[in-house]
Amino acid sequence: MRILGREDVAAALRGLDATVLDAVRAAYLLHGQGHSEVPFSGFLRPPGDSGSRVISLPAYLGGPEPVMGLKWISSFPDNVGRGLQRASSVQILNDLDTGYPTAVLEASRISASRTAASAALAGRALHGDRPVHTVGLIGCGTINRRVLDFLALTHPELRTVVLQDAVPGRAEVLAARLAAERPGPRYTAGDLGAALGADTVSVATTDSTYWLDLAAHPGRPRHQVILHLSLRDLTPASVLGAYNVVDDTDHVLREQTSLHRAEQQAGHRDFVAAELAGILAAPAGPGAAPDTDRLVVFSPFGLGILDLAVARVIVEAAAREGIGTEAGGFDPGPHPVTAAMAGGAA
Ligand SMILES: NC(=O)c1ccc[n+]([C@@H]2O[C@H](COP(=O)([O-])OP(=O)(O)OC[C@H]3O[C@@H](n4cnc5c(N)ncnc54)[C@H](O)[C@@H]3O)[C@@H](O)[C@H]2O)c1
Repeated sequence: MRILGREDVAAALRGLDATVLDAVRAAYLLHGQGHSEVPFSGFLRPPGDSGSRVISLPAYLGGPEPVMGLKWISSFPDNVGRGLQRASSVQILNDLDTGYPTAVLEASRISASRTAASAALAGRALHGDRPVHTVGLIGCGTINRRVLDFLALTHPELRTVVLQDAVPGRAEVLAARLAAERPGPRYTAGDLGAALGADTVSVATTDSTYWLDLAAHPGRPRHQVILHLSLRDLTPASVLGAYNVVDDTDHVLREQTSLHRAEQQAGHRDFVAAELAGILAAPAGPGAAPDTDRLVVFSPFGLGILDLAVARVIVEAAAREGIGTEAGGFDPGPHPVTAAMAGGAA
């Protein structure tokens, strides 16, 4: 079995953002064609009211090179105030013939990369051929930092990024970091109204209180796209007033997301206009964006097939470049009866 720790994953991923974007797009298309198995995620919440949780995401992704496995990801928001990452994760890949584990990867970077790639793909597709000159980042943490890497790929025309965070200083620190790491666009810390004035707004906070009422912020650009990655920021009324695009309707209308709350209020789920796979499958170019005058909101639950797709990119790159460690002893060994039988017939 191949073991890839944090630095191995980082080394294997280096320079592969465009490959990750393609892998995530391909995974969505396969999902849209029914070539996937995505059981509902399991949520484990430790006792207490800390907002911490651990989520299991088993998945199978078909196509020419099928892959299957499990992502096991913790979210402990209080870590961040101590200088630690909120999310930690392990990705297991399993052999499709025997079911035995073939690889274990440190997966927080995989999770951030697939989330960011999915957001950027959606942002591009939902704007069609309209240029995106301004991006707003609400929440200045790991996910939005990575979102910008992928938005820079899908929107090379980007000129200005407005950053906002509820904790003073965080927007300024991320703006300075981005200016050093990604020169080109202008990075500026601003208030919520300024961030919400952008063509595309990525919301990735740790606030799960349905606090963001879009009606309280009129004058936002026509054809704005909001990437609602943290899923529990928008008020249900904001969801009900929008043109909603999701990754998978059955998944995202669970676990008290803003869309789940909207469904509980409205008594139906007709407010979900489209799934991303259908939009990605349409030919790109003029007229590709949804034909609506309403605000477009993309809410991705985050499907385990995306982690599989990115993990496969990494395992292949690691094999090419000799990255990682081979560990024996992770198969269960021979069968106690059939292995001993002459000819092995069971
Ligand atoms: N949909 C998906 O597939 C997916 C995948 C990964 C992460 N996420 C979600 O993305 C969110 C962000 O993750 P992260 O790793 O970047 O977390 P992080 O802790 O690194 O950053 C979150 C930031 O949000 C800020 N914040 C909290 N409340 C805010 C508010 N009301 N307004 C503005 N800023 C606020 C915090 O101060 C912090 O800087 C989490 O909620 C996570 O669950 C979603």
